[in-house]
Amino acid sequence: MKIAVCGKGGVGKTFIAGSLAWHFASSGHPVIAIDADSSPNLALNLGLSADEASHIVPVAENEELIRMKTGTDFSGVFRLSFTVDDIISRYGVPTPSGANLLVMGTVKAMGAGCTCPAHSVIKALMRHLVVERDEIVILDMEAGIEHLGRGTAEHVDILLAVADANLKSLEIASAICRLAQESDISTIGLVANRIASAQQDAVFRSYAAGHNLPVLGQIPFDQRVADTGMTGEPLDTSASDALNAIRELAERLEKAHAG
Ligand SMILES: Nc1ncnc2c1ncn2[C@@H]1O[C@H](COP(=O)(O)OP(=O)(O)OP(=O)(O)O)[C@@H](O)[C@H]1O
Ligand SMILES: [Mg+2]
Repeated sequence: MKIAVCGKGGVGKTFIAGSLAWHFASSGHPVIAIDADSSPNLALNLGLSADEASHIVPVAENEELIRMKTGTDFSGVFRLSFTVDDIISRYGVPTPSGANLLVMGTVKAMGAGCTCPAHSVIKALMRHLVVERDEIVILDMEAGIEHLGRGTAEHVDILLAVADANLKSLEIASAICRLAQESDISTIGLVANRIASAQQDAVFRSYAAGHNLPVLGQIPFDQRVADTGMTGEPLDTSASDALNAIRELAERLEKAHAG
């Protein structure tokens, strides 16, 4: 099962992606967590320290890998004879969450006439990543909607468009859902995050209903999540309203995927 977590900047994508990874790993699934944000910070949400995170070399910045996997000496010519298992085993970083972390890094064009080998690696990785029955891949995406145009989130089973109590974030989540509906992604829907009142809940639900978009999860505002977000400390996963809601979301996704 491959899950992409998308949405406007700051809505809680990384918190949700990281918490889903903790949940699935602790319930016995092999988990690959992919940080596809060009300002990566998923590592902290998976329990690594800032110092450990700073030593991770992003896949897209690993020239040896890019050359090995996509390159010939001719710009724009790619081999793409690609297995991804070795990428996971060579570049995946084990984390306290139990998930293996891959940090993709910045995807930048590398000169005229070149179709961007680094970007090809990410796309090919997603396309060819064959997921075994109980394996879970979670993608923490870059903010906004461009990645859908670039096709990075094309080969997932589930797309979560996260919004918070902010109209702009709802509009972006809804645009993401509409774009995703043109792809083969089977489960697409909104996740409300940081909902702090019954009124916000009602506004969110009526927006979703008015735009004919399914609501896959609702995660309340949780002061402890906000506090640990500031300090970078790992969250106590035992007693958090937000984490309980994410657990329910995870169970719903498993059911949707199985059915
Ligand atoms: N349900 C919640 N309750 C309280 N605080 C939350 C909640 N969800 C996320 N936060 C806090 O909001 C902040 C932003 O969350 P996060 O970094 O996950 O957003 P993001 O969408 O990944 O941002 P970016 O677009 O910059 O990658 C963090 O400090 C996080 O701890
Ligand atoms: Mg993030």
